[in-house]
Amino acid sequence: MPLREQHVTIDGRVLRYLDTGAGAPFLLVHAFPLSADLWEPQLLAPPPGWRLIAPDLRGFRGPDAGRPVEPLGDVTVDDYARDLLGLLDHLEIAAAVVGGLSMGGYVTFALLRQAPRRVRGLVLADTRPQADSDEGRAKRRDMLALIARDGVEGVAEAMLPGLVGATTLRDRPEVVARVERLILANHADAVRAAVSAMMTRPDSTPLLAAIDRPTLVMAGQEDAIIPLDVAEALHGAIPGSRLTVLPGAGHLPNLEHPEAFNAALARFLEERL
Ligand code: MLT
Repeated sequence: MPLREQHVTIDGRVLRYLDTGAGAPFLLVHAFPLSADLWEPQLLAPPPGWRLIAPDLRGFRGPDAGRPVEPLGDVTVDDYARDLLGLLDHLEIAAAVVGGLSMGGYVTFALLRQAPRRVRGLVLADTRPQADSDEGRAKRRDMLALIARDGVEGVAEAMLPGLVGATTLRDRPEVVARVERLILANHADAVRAAVSAMMTRPDSTPLLAAIDRPTLVMAGQEDAIIPLDVAEALHGAIPGSRLTVLPGAGHLPNLEHPEAFNAALARFLEERL
C-alpha cells in the first residue's frame, strides 16, 4: 500500500501528514516524543475501506526536523487539536474516527471537546483522561531541564526503557532502536513545547460519561507509563466502550505488536463503525 507523505500549511506553519488507504477517514494522533511515523505499521496495512491519515503534531518531525526552526513558544493540547481540525478542513473531511496514543489521546480529548461532531468514533490507546498531578508536573519540569541540558538525546536515554514493555526491552532490540530513531528525528523545541502542552492539559474525565461514539480502549499489558488499571477505568467510564489488552506489549503496542494491534483495530472498525 503506497504511503503518501504530504504537507499543508495551517495557521502559517507547515504540517506534515502521512496518508494511505481509501474510504472512511481515520485520523491517528501520535505519542510523545515521537511523530506520525509511529503509525507506520498501521499505515502500511490499512483496514479495507479505511483511509488512514497520520499528522505530525506541531513542530514534530516535518520538513524542518533536525534543523533550527522558529521557536514554537507555548503550545497547548487545544492548539494541537485546532491544527488537526485545520487538516480535516483542508482535506474536506466532515467527521473522522480519531485514534490517539498516550499524548495523542490527550489531543483527541481536546478535539472531542472543541468539535464533537467531527468525531465519528474513538480509539484511545495507552492514554489517560486525567490532567497531570502535582507530582506529574514536577516530573515535567525535570524533563524541561533535561531537554534544555541534553536535548533529544537526553530524552531518548531517559525515556526509552519505559516506552516499551519489559518483553520488548528484553527480546526485541530492533523495536527499541526504532523508537530511539523516531525520538532522535525530532527537534528539541517540538519536544519542549509538547511537555508544556501536556503539563497544562485540562482534566478530561468530565467528558467520558457523555461519549456516545463507538470507542475502543487499548492498552499494552506491560505499559509502565500508563498502567492497566487506568485503561480499565477509562473503559468503565465510557458507556458501551470495548477494551482490548495486548499481552507482551508496553506503552507502544502498535509498534511492539503490530499484528495484534491491527487485528483488534480492524475488528472494532468492522463491528462498531
Ligand atoms: C506519551 O507517550 O505520549 C507520554 O509518555 C505521555 C505522558 O508523558 O503523559
